[in-house]
Amino acid sequence: MPYTVPKLSDFSPAALDSAVRELLSAIQEEKNALVNEASEPSVASSKKTADLKTFRDRWLARKNGVVSQMTEVWLKVAPPGAKRDVGQRVNATMTVVEHHVSEAKERVEFFARQSPAALESNIKVDSDLQALRQEATRSQLELQRLDITLPGIRRPLGAEHPVIKTMNEIVGVFRNLGYSVEEGPEIETDYYHFEALNFPPNHPARDTQDTLFIAGQESKPQRDRLLLRTHTSPVQIRTMQKTKPPVRVVCPGKVHRNDAPDATHSPIFHQVEGLAVDTNITFCDLKGTLDHAMKALFGSSVKTRFYPSFFPFTEPSADVQISCIFCDGKGTRDGGPCRNCKASGWIELLGCGMVDPNVYGFVDYDATKVSGFAFGMGVERIAILKYGVDDIQLFFQGDVRFLEQFG
Ligand code: PHE
Repeated sequence: MPYTVPKLSDFSPAALDSAVRELLSAIQEEKNALVNEASEPSVASSKKTADLKTFRDRWLARKNGVVSQMTEVWLKVAPPGAKRDVGQRVNATMTVVEHHVSEAKERVEFFARQSPAALESNIKVDSDLQALRQEATRSQLELQRLDITLPGIRRPLGAEHPVIKTMNEIVGVFRNLGYSVEEGPEIETDYYHFEALNFPPNHPARDTQDTLFIAGQESKPQRDRLLLRTHTSPVQIRTMQKTKPPVRVVCPGKVHRNDAPDATHSPIFHQVEGLAVDTNITFCDLKGTLDHAMKALFGSSVKTRFYPSFFPFTEPSADVQISCIFCDGKGTRDGGPCRNCKASGWIELLGCGMVDPNVYGFVDYDATKVSGFAFGMGVERIAILKYGVDDIQLFFQGDVRFLEQFG
């Protein structure tokens, strides 16, 4: 049954929409049938154009075409309240119908112009093309096939290396006290590394800093010869050279020593140096600062003890010990001697002292006006204690099973 415009009893927007949908699907269907017929080589061109005219008239004829029926059957009889709605839909539908008709005209006229042989080959090309398209889609789908039963690819998250993590923590403690951060070169000159730190040439104190010297430096004056730094103390000199007092800095960095690797030694390790210079800085300030820092790093119950020591660039100098964190300073654990502190209850942790007045002479500070303190600590040593690591080599071997424990 060819489509005719039905009478409506319901003029609600929903009923109107469904009536319009029905009309549009009818024209779509008729248009497809018409164009299909037109592509057939066996149908005469004259029939194709005649059918096109019938199609056009059926939908657009002024007298009784489907479009004019819409006006008669829907618009004219619509209740006054629905007129506007119906009018809008009739207009929009008319535009779509006109579009379908002109598209059908274009295609049917195209086919009508072709010879039957040309249409034959069109059909063949058409079906080849479809087969190709199908194949392309199939292989694309094949490529994109997702086997959701396969396990996913894990993307492991990296973690801060325990040495860097500890170094940042130490630096953080001093930043909170108002210290700034300075860095210096890992390859130093004899001057910054020794001479300006009050190690005179040939002084036996140099023997405590056995390091690797860069080869081929003999032609240079001794003060310019290069070596791998054994401590971060040369950064003290570099900082004082470029800043007037007051100075409060920490200097984190990598250092080297001529040591064979074993559980407690490594030819490469890290230090954090500290320096505070101002007027009226006393040994009390040094003690208070380091006591606070050790409590911040190891817990508030940790005690500190200062033991006389020697460094050429500090006077007086001290080694700082903290109460053993494994036996709470008792020296005994699990009924026997504590192995971590060799039963002494104390663990030696860092070197420090009041800056030797001779050092100020190298950086143009007035030793009669200023005073200050310096300290230096090994980062690995602190990490070993904090995390209970029993071999310093673990920090440098890059074994993920070790490192991921710090993630
Ligand atoms: N530089 C010394 C060392 O590496 C540590 C230290 C730093 C001592 C600053 C006193 C003051 O052994």
